[in-house]
Amino acid sequence: MIGLLKKVIGDTDEKKLKKLEKLVNEVNSLSDEMSGLSDHDLAGKTENLKSRYQAGESLDDLLPEAFAVVREGADRVLGLRPYDVQVVGGIVLHRGDTAEMKTGEGKTLVATMPVYLNAISGDGVHVVTVNDYLARRDSEQMGELYRFLGLTVG
Ligand SMILES: Nc1ncnc2c1ncn2[C@@H]1O[C@H](COP(=O)(O)OP(=O)(O)OP(=O)(O)O)[C@@H](O)[C@H]1O
Ligand SMILES: [Mg+2]
Repeated sequence: MIGLLKKVIGDTDEKKLKKLEKLVNEVNSLSDEMSGLSDHDLAGKTENLKSRYQAGESLDDLLPEAFAVVREGADRVLGLRPYDVQVVGGIVLHRGDTAEMKTGEGKTLVATMPVYLNAISGDGVHVVTVNDYLARRDSEQMGELYRFLGLTVG
């Protein structure tokens, strides 16, 4: 796994990689719980996460569960289950760092995880892309997932 992470984010200190690996493992460990939920209960996680945020849990605390919710939702709604490497990309974006991923590696799906997590705060999230066509396409395609999870998309 560390080897894979190095490939994705380049050489950086082992400590950072270990922390990323730990978070990915936490997301993975929630897979069975999420896949056991009905669509209704999976979507209901959004309200649950929102109330926990209001009660003082931080977005960082909620990250593993929120990412696991999106992963299961993406699998059900889009037929795409984010790979570990995509989860890593999502964590990096959530931290406000830059993730470089090659053409076709699935950046559109990567974005859904940090977007969902940050929407839990209720503040709204802007996704910037290079042109109107892509903005429309991605908001429509990923919008199915966001709406399934109870968010609204413009
Ligand atoms: N986890 C996944 N499982 C299966 N297919 C996936 C997964 N993630 C992405 N894909 C598919 O891979 C293809 C490329 O994804 P996407 O267009 O998001 O890549 P990209 O990194 O944005 O590429 P580009 O640089 O061309 O914009 C799409 O057809 C997408 O459906
Ligand atoms: Mg793209």
